[in-house]
Amino acid sequence: MTKLHIFAGSVYGNAQHVAEEVHEMLSSDGVECELFSDPSIDDFTRADAILVITSTTGQGDIPPNLEFVHAELKDTFPLLTDKPFAVAALGDSSYDTFCGGGRHFQELLTELQAKPVTDMLEVDALETFEPEQMVKDWVADIKDKLI
Ligand SMILES: Cc1cc2nc3c(=O)[nH]c(=O)nc-3n(C[C@H](O)[C@H](O)[C@H](O)COP(=O)(O)O)c2cc1C
Repeated sequence: MTKLHIFAGSVYGNAQHVAEEVHEMLSSDGVECELFSDPSIDDFTRADAILVITSTTGQGDIPPNLEFVHAELKDTFPLLTDKPFAVAALGDSSYDTFCGGGRHFQELLTELQAKPVTDMLEVDALETFEPEQMVKDWVADIKDKLI
């Protein structure tokens, strides 16, 4: 059975909460999936499919809990050829660097030759008061392409 690894990047808990809700939804649908908040490179290379749900901090930066693994993936460059992936980015459009954290992952996973199953989802805190519902609906739509 295909195993989906979900990676949550979060500073204040919003993206973590969204990822937990998505994990719960998929698990109750019978999807084999695991949620990582402090992942290693192996957690990316071992995945059959990858879902990143991350906020943005600083000026377009990745939250500290995913920053290290992002840098390590960039340095060691393990090819993830044809692994399906999707990225949901939580951000705030009042920043010039809107959804920069998600964008960094979208770009890196593409460089590692993983296969995007859809465009990155942008969730704007100024417009969306229930990010978990928006991301869950989006995941439900793309689920069949991901796993
Ligand atoms: C200090 C700080 C810096 C932020 N920088 C950005 C940014 O550069 N781009 C962006 O789109 N959102 C930015 N945001 C907005 C957060 O990404 C957004 O509020 C998100 O929902 C936070 O999720 P989290 O609780 O999982 O970290 C920033 C928020 C804070 C508090």
